[in-house]
Amino acid sequence: MAGRLTNKVAIITGGGSGIGRASAELFAREGAAVGVLDVRAEAAEETAAAIRAAGGRALGLGADVTNDAQVRAATDAVIAEFGDVAILYNNAGIGSTGAVDVAEEDDWDRCFNINAKGTFLCSRAVVPSMLKAGRGSIINQGSVAALVGVANFAAYCAAKGAVVALTRSMSIDLAPRGIRVNAIAPGTIYTPLMEPMLIARGGGDLQKGLEMTLTKYPIGRLGDVGDIANAALFLASDEAAFVTGSTLTADGGMTSI
Ligand SMILES: NC(=O)c1ccc[n+]([C@@H]2O[C@H](COP(=O)([O-])OP(=O)(O)OC[C@H]3O[C@@H](n4cnc5c(N)ncnc54)[C@H](O)[C@@H]3O)[C@@H](O)[C@H]2O)c1
Repeated sequence: MAGRLTNKVAIITGGGSGIGRASAELFAREGAAVGVLDVRAEAAEETAAAIRAAGGRALGLGADVTNDAQVRAATDAVIAEFGDVAILYNNAGIGSTGAVDVAEEDDWDRCFNINAKGTFLCSRAVVPSMLKAGRGSIINQGSVAALVGVANFAAYCAAKGAVVALTRSMSIDLAPRGIRVNAIAPGTIYTPLMEPMLIARGGGDLQKGLEMTLTKYPIGRLGDVGDIANAALFLASDEAAFVTGSTLTADGGMTSI
């Protein structure tokens, strides 16, 4: 089914890689004009160029989600190019490893700034445009790490927990004004973000880390970026018109064990 986002403008952060890139391409195939934001401007442009080459509409923009001025400038550029924003996918994030007794303070701050504060700054920049249009859907990227304890990922678990709590708070503030806010809690997807975390889990051995992780997945495989892009598409679309404040697990049953 194509056209589920026809005539909608979407902003996807962290759109230069992994889940963000797959989502940007899927949203564009479904008819959205997509503002692809990434701290790596060339990666954002690469995704946007691929969308345009496939006949879609996209603008690639360099923006660090922890920098309010950059976030506002990129949001304004998307609105100037395509019009008011209907969908914001706060996907940009970084990983972090270490139990609480060894985690570095700088690493903790970076993890919170990008995953949690970035979600706040991007939402704050985009909501006025959604209010003008009278409707919107915000999707925040959580993680299974927000829902269950994951060994040696202290800062990441805490930052993603903050994203899920923020999602509930935003949803009740914005529902009366026509904006839905939901989170996704993906299970493990093999992407550049996940690789160092898998290596750490395997004690320096990626293959071992992958095998150890797989034992936690009743469905018998890890996820792929398309699994999460499809979940995001549902939350972005009008099919989710009555869905707000939820955290959708897309985790192959990992959190049900
Ligand atoms: N891969 C997984 O297993 C998994 C599981 C659960 C949740 N997630 C979450 O999904 C999201 C995407 O992860 P991914 O696996 O696709 O990672 P990825 O590393 O492939 O992509 C993340 C993108 O975010 C960008 N980015 C990083 N810091 C940024 C910043 N300050 N401003 C703007 N862009 C920034 C990166 O440049 C990169 O292009 C993250 O929030 C991650 O925590 C991933």
